[in-house]
Amino acid sequence: FKASFALVVLALVLSGCGDPFLSALQPKGEGAGMIYDLMILSIVIMLFVFAVVMVIYAFVIYKYRQKKDDPDYIPKQTEGNHALETLWTVIPIILLLILAVPTVQYTFALADTSPDVNEEGEEMDSIWINVTGAQYWWHFEYEDLEVSTSQELYIPTDRRVYLSMVSQDVIHSFWVPSIDGKMDVNPTGNTNEMTLLAQEEGVYFGKCAELCGPSHSLMDFKVVAVSPGEFEQWVQDMQSVTGEETPESQTAQEGQELFNNNCIGCHAIGSSPNKTGPNLTNFGDREELAGVFDYNKENIIKWIQTKGVGEEGDRMKPGNRMTDAQYDLTDEEAGKIAEYLMQLKPSDINPENARDT
Ligand code: CUA
Repeated sequence: FKASFALVVLALVLSGCGDPFLSALQPKGEGAGMIYDLMILSIVIMLFVFAVVMVIYAFVIYKYRQKKDDPDYIPKQTEGNHALETLWTVIPIILLLILAVPTVQYTFALADTSPDVNEEGEEMDSIWINVTGAQYWWHFEYEDLEVSTSQELYIPTDRRVYLSMVSQDVIHSFWVPSIDGKMDVNPTGNTNEMTLLAQEEGVYFGKCAELCGPSHSLMDFKVVAVSPGEFEQWVQDMQSVTGEETPESQTAQEGQELFNNNCIGCHAIGSSPNKTGPNLTNFGDREELAGVFDYNKENIIKWIQTKGVGEEGDRMKPGNRMTDAQYDLTDEEAGKIAEYLMQLKPSDINPENARDT
């Protein structure tokens, strides 16, 4: 019973409690597929070893059990057996080799960030994305496309995208279990690179996988995988935003002014290098607030407000870096800023539509 309980717990841990989009056991990406293959291979080998050992164990217990008619029976004692010893040395070596060969192959394949080649053998244009981890959010800058965003990373399906990753403070770890393995994100000067290839459209959950402070468990993000055509469209829509656009409603216009007076020092709208706070170009398209909270006006107001008042512990994400300096915004003012931010929807390509496919 204990063993089966442990197996159930292990299965739950590995599968992320059944959510198909936070599960290493339901791979939807090239890298996750390789990792899944290795997991299956090692489990098969382990089960084989377990079965063989159990069969021998049962056989020995049965065959050399105490006999009723001869309570003093002792089986023949042997010491040393060259044939057996060779056998139980060679078999594990073979099993380890069976495991090692694909492991080494996949390790190199996963670490390979050289450009893709097309059928004629020419190098294809690579989409490079600068990823910056920060306490407790993610910045994504599409280097050659002049597009910036945060928290929700848009990628085309069936095409490798290249990530160049640094941290602006402590060590984080970028992990989207359904698509690929983990990669550490280190402070500047120590750039790590990896690739992502999603094989199916959808919204995939990502986690920071390195303990990085009080809100480490809230440092979630998403990968939004859309068709290559939709990705092109999204890029064009994002490129058209400068932050100068005048919103339709009066309230949002007032919100824009408040935003430009209070928030723009840390938050950019439109393409920008990484600033102190998250880029908000397509904030209106976000699935969740700050990666983990329900996306609604009350929460956005609360998020803005809890920066100025209350102790560190009252914050929605304890330890986050949103400044305390200029916060004398009233509920009404925070509400106007929320109105402004919620109408920043430059594209019809968004997580909701990616989910439908
Ligand atoms: Cu960032 Cu944990």
